Amino acid sequence: MAAEKICLLTGASTGLGRALALELADRGYRVLAVARSQDLLSQLEQQHRLIRAFALDVTDAAALQQLTEQIARDYGRLDLVILNAGTCEYVQATDLDLAAFDRTFALNFRAVVCATKQLLPLLPRGSQLAMVSSLAHLFPFGRAEAYGASKAAISYFADTLRADLAGTGIAVCLIEPGFVDTPLTRKNDFPMPFLLPAGEAALRIASKLESGALRIRFPQRLVWSLQLLRCLPYGIRQRLAARMARQGGSDAT
Ligand SMILES: NC(=O)c1ccc[n+]([C@@H]2O[C@H](COP(=O)([O-])OP(=O)(O)OC[C@H]3O[C@@H](n4cnc5c(N)ncnc54)[C@H](OP(=O)(O)O)[C@@H]3O)[C@@H](O)[C@H]2O)c1
Repeated sequence: MAAEKICLLTGASTGLGRALALELADRGYRVLAVARSQDLLSQLEQQHRLIRAFALDVTDAAALQQLTEQIARDYGRLDLVILNAGTCEYVQATDLDLAAFDRTFALNFRAVVCATKQLLPLLPRGSQLAMVSSLAHLFPFGRAEAYGASKAAISYFADTLRADLAGTGIAVCLIEPGFVDTPLTRKNDFPMPFLLPAGEAALRIASKLESGALRIRFPQRLVWSLQLLRCLPYGIRQRLAARMARQGGSDAT
């Protein structure tokens, strides 16, 4: 009988992460589900026998280290890591909120780097390390200076890490979703084109991960639209971004 595959997933208490935890457990993964909300994690654990919850703050390096040691003791390895925990805070360009930048980068970027550093020794040849960025970094969306920059950083980090880890047998996968219906986007008060239910997004991600994709981007119609905008001359693209920002309907998650 094939050994059970072990997946560590951060940001598993709500939204995309919660849907992914259930999808991966349905596919036979033992899912080590990480987030801060103990009560939501307990509910998730009760929904599937293959889900085990770990309540911790991923920006706390010492807590992450303890988790890594516990996983090493209990399982000895990880077959799949998905660094999904993230946040979005919009900012005002005329009065940039430095604390918002700190919070966003602490979770969306530094915690991902820290988890990568700590978990890498547990990843054998043939394992996958996936991180969740966003399509948002493909276009200068209004008020998304902190969020978009943190996601651009993740995308660059993942691509560079993949190049540097070539030959180790660890596959780095970059996940760049468009709009997904989650508690994060429910706060948005602007139209979100091609919005997907979290379950549908999780299904797409899990299937692509199983096929060994290096990068997962969806929905395709939003990918094409953003790529088309990137083909425009720089000045025209910036004028368009400015017009969208003035209309206030251009934010992105
Ligand atoms: N929704 C979209 O349209 C969209 C689009 C592109 C990319 N994304 C990305 O997808 C990821 C998931 O987003 P979502 O939409 O599913 O948002 P969400 O529903 O707000 O989920 C965020 C998850 O991260 C966890 N989390 C937040 N801070 C944490 C911390 N310090 N330590 C541990 N866990 C923490 C939250 O749980 P606790 O509060 O319990 O800790 C929650 O489980 C994010 O990286 C987001 O940027 C989302």
